Amino acid sequence: MIPGPTPVPESVLVELARHPIGHRSKEFSDIFMSCIEDLKWLGKTKNSDIFIYTASGTGAMEAAISNVISPGDKVLSLVIGVFGKRFGQIAQAFGAEVEMFTAEMGKVIDPKLLEERLSLDKNKEIKVVTVTHSETSTGAANDLEKISKIIKNHGALLIVDAVTSLGCMNVDIDGWGLDIVISGSQKGFMIPPGLSFIYVSKKAWEYNKKSKCPKFYWDFGKHKKSLDEQTTPFTPNVSFVCVLKKAFEMMKKEGLENIILRHERLTKNLRSGLKRLDLKLLTEDQNASHAITAIWPPDGVLVPDIRSAYKKDWDITVANGQDTLKDKIFRIGHLGFVSDRDIEMTLAVTGKVMLSLRGSLKG
Ligand SMILES: Cc1ncc(COP(=O)(O)O)c(C=O)c1O
Repeated sequence: MIPGPTPVPESVLVELARHPIGHRSKEFSDIFMSCIEDLKWLGKTKNSDIFIYTASGTGAMEAAISNVISPGDKVLSLVIGVFGKRFGQIAQAFGAEVEMFTAEMGKVIDPKLLEERLSLDKNKEIKVVTVTHSETSTGAANDLEKISKIIKNHGALLIVDAVTSLGCMNVDIDGWGLDIVISGSQKGFMIPPGLSFIYVSKKAWEYNKKSKCPKFYWDFGKHKKSLDEQTTPFTPNVSFVCVLKKAFEMMKKEGLENIILRHERLTKNLRSGLKRLDLKLLTEDQNASHAITAIWPPDGVLVPDIRSAYKKDWDITVANGQDTLKDKIFRIGHLGFVSDRDIEMTLAVTGKVMLSLRGSLKG
C-alpha cells in the first residue's frame, strides 16, 4: 500500500514474460501508436503531442523544463511538498531564476494568494509556472482547474506534474488548457517503473522554438519527428510499452469516469475509516489527493514501529514521510490496481496495528 511502484495486475505480469520485439517492427509501431491514442483518452486531449520516454517521472520533469526554458528565465514553482520543490530545483539546474511559491506541508496553493502574486508581475517576467497536481509527499491535491485559469490570465506557460493524478483523478488537458503534463508508469498506470509520459501543447511548442537549454535525449523535436513516423528516436523499453497496452485494455474496460470514481470512493472510505480509528490526517478532506493519504501517528507511537508492525505482522508495506516529514507521518497509497477489498483489509489491519502499539504504551 505504497504510492508507487503500485500493484501490477496478472494480465500485465503475464505479458511481461514475453520476449522483447524489435522496436522498428510494424508490430511494435502499432502497439506504440495504440498507447499514444490511449494516453490521449486518459488525459482527455486531442490537441497535444505525446511522447513516451524510457525514464522515471523525474526524467519527464527534466524534459519539460529543458525543452521550454532558457538560462535566466524566471520560473515560478508552486511548492506544496517534495515533488513541487524538485521541479524548482530542476529549473535551477538549467539556469532559471526560480521563485518557490510555497504552502505549508499538507496544505494546497491558495488561488487568491497566487492571483495576488501574479498581479505584481506587471512586466510579465514570469515565463513558466510549475505545479504538482497530487503531491505524493503529503497527500494534498491542488485545484488544477482553478490554478490553470489563473495562469492563463497571466499568460505564463503551465507545466503540470500529474505523476500521481493521471489515471486516478480527473486531468482534463484540453478542457483546462494545460500546457505541459507529465506522468509516470509506476502509479495509476499499473505497470512497473521505467516509462514516463509527456503531453505537449501548441503553446509549449512556441516556447520550445525559443528555448536555449542543452537537450538531446529529451529533445521534443527529435521525439516529434519520430512520432510522425510512428516510432521513437531511441530504443524504448519495448516490453513496458507492450505491457502498457495491456494495462490500457483493463483501464478502458473499467472506463475513465469509473476509474476516477473508484479512486474517489476508496479515498473517502479510507479517510473516514482512519478517522474512526482516532487517527489524524495531514490534509483536510477538501484538499485530499485521491491517490495517497498521509497520517499522523498516535501520541507516543513511533512511525518506524508502525511501519514494521504492518510489515512484520501483516506483510503490508506503508510508506514513511519524506524530507522534513520523515518519521513524522506515514503514508498509504491507494492508486492504480487497488480495490475496495484492499482498503477494507488495510483499515482492519490498521486497527490491529494501532491497538497493539497503543496497548504496549499502556503496558
Ligand atoms: C508527484 C510526483 N512527482 C514526481 C515523482 C518522481 O517520479 P520518479 O520517482 O518516477 O522519478 C514522483 C514519484 O513518486 C511523484 O510522486
